Amino acid sequence: MLVLQIIVALFTALMGGLYLLGVFRRRRPGEPPLDKGLFPWLGHVLEFRRNTVKFLQRMQRKHGDVFTIQLGGFYVTFLQDPLSFGPFVKESREKLDFNKFAKHLVHRVFGYWSANSEHHILQQSSNKYLKGDGLEVLTQSMTANLQNLMLHNLGKEEPAWTEDGLFMYCYNIVFRAGYLSLYGNVSPKCKDGEEKAKEKDRVESESLFYKFRKYDQLFPNLAYGVLPPKRRLELRGLMDYFWDVLAVRKVKTKDNISGWVWDMQQVREEMGMDEAMIDRYMFLLLWASQGNTGPSAFWLLLYIMKHPEAMTAIKGEVDRIVRESGQEVRHDGPLLNLTREMLMKTTIMDSAVEETLRLCAAPLLTRAVLQDMTLKMADGKEFLIRKGDRMAIFPYSGVQMDPGIHPDPRAFKYDRFLNPDGSKKTEFYKDGKKVKYYTMPWGAGVSICPGRFFATNELKQFIFLMLVYFEFELLDPEMEIPGIDVRRWGFGTMQPDRDVPFRYRLRY
Ligand code: HEM
Ligand SMILES: *[C@@H]1O[C@H](CO)[C@@H](O)[C@H](O)[C@H]1NC(C)=O
Ligand SMILES: *[C@@H]1O[C@H](CO)[C@@H](O)[C@H](O)[C@H]1NC(C)=O
Repeated sequence: MLVLQIIVALFTALMGGLYLLGVFRRRRPGEPPLDKGLFPWLGHVLEFRRNTVKFLQRMQRKHGDVFTIQLGGFYVTFLQDPLSFGPFVKESREKLDFNKFAKHLVHRVFGYWSANSEHHILQQSSNKYLKGDGLEVLTQSMTANLQNLMLHNLGKEEPAWTEDGLFMYCYNIVFRAGYLSLYGNVSPKCKDGEEKAKEKDRVESESLFYKFRKYDQLFPNLAYGVLPPKRRLELRGLMDYFWDVLAVRKVKTKDNISGWVWDMQQVREEMGMDEAMIDRYMFLLLWASQGNTGPSAFWLLLYIMKHPEAMTAIKGEVDRIVRESGQEVRHDGPLLNLTREMLMKTTIMDSAVEETLRLCAAPLLTRAVLQDMTLKMADGKEFLIRKGDRMAIFPYSGVQMDPGIHPDPRAFKYDRFLNPDGSKKTEFYKDGKKVKYYTMPWGAGVSICPGRFFATNELKQFIFLMLVYFEFELLDPEMEIPGIDVRRWGFGTMQPDRDVPFRYRLRY
């Protein structure tokens, strides 16, 4: 009797184990092609992680635009037909949910447990402070902070050439100025303390950037949950550092804190959230707001430098806008007051920004499937999607690199997003059909980047000031555009696999 019970128990455990390993999963009629990969449970995760783009292209050739693959215990259905992105983006939250999926990832990489009502706070506050009139204030801070970091040597001595890596230079400046604009400036204690306070801003933001880069480099392995023990220790140290430097009690001593960061703290305090947990959220916001803009600034500046016709057009636009603002930049004159109004006139630069992001922004958009559902494709086909699975789109290979939509997709064409009459181009076609989602650097739907207007402004401000105040050139003008660090596919803006030496010097 007992023996039988043991055998039954073992059998049940075995079957349960096999079930979890995915052995019994079969494609049902009406479902997309299923590709479980060679390894039980893991499925394709190793190949996916090694180079997401290459892997997805292989799957697409094999199965078409819709397919389900096994990835580390999950079944993920990829949708790679840009004409059919609409249903994914607009599906109700009862069926395709972003928060549930994001919550666990956020805990793993930031140690933060979100409250349930949070997402809508982020959206409300971002609408108020990261776009429209709210952006006016932030643009002013950004101009002041960029100038503090870029121009503090202005007019002091004979300007000398400085050599640096273009990636590190752009990332450093844009990260620090963005951070200071959101989290505030060191408060000057007395009247002549202003210069001292500005210097403190420079020094403190520099060490923050240095630590941030270390975290940034651990990030892909951290997100995949494969950080080796030694790195875990390093990570722990970094987290402690960020939670301390960005702690609510410290940020509150600053001047010029953005409404955005202020609100996020305040609302959580009012909800009764533990202060240590809010400190963790402050780091999450730092990563979300500063991890992509610097690398994007690098690609933008590099592409402009490598394309003289783009440089001429954009420089001409910048000079015209400065002239029209009635300002003049002189050796002994006041600093340029670069306003939001001026930044709204940069149609050529806007197109170059959009084109750069098409080439370098590669987020993976994922949703949890909460109910069995039917996916309706633009061509009339339908697929059944199972509850408990996930759905994803990867717009970089799904649309941004599609030669049917963007001819010669690997080439940088600064005017790709301009109409012949110079206005912004928003109509793109594939096989004669209009494509609504023709580039998606910011994601889409419920999780679309709430910082996209501010981010675009930051990029433009940085380029604007570079062009106005500096001469700069690549040390080797013949050097090719570097390759992409393929471990980062899916995490936002890509980073180069090596830096590009350049030199710069002040004009004034
Ligand atoms: C070029 C720069 C940027 C790029 C390419 C970018 C891209 C993205 C993308 C693709 C997402 C969505 C991820 C998903 O769907 O899972 C996202 C989310 C987010 N971004 Fe950005 N972003 C940039 C700059 C910024 C800036 C400057 C801020 C804030 C000031 C910001 C704040 C956020 C936040 C808070 C989220 C999370 C949204 C949510 O949970 O719904 N981003 N970003
Ligand atoms: C706060 O911002 C204003 C302008 O936006 C600037 O003049 C002032 O110097 C900033 N305060 C600090 C402490 O940097
Ligand atoms: C720049 O111009 C704006 C709008 O004209 C003005 O509100 C702001 O005070 C100016 N800032 C500086 C630093 O002069």
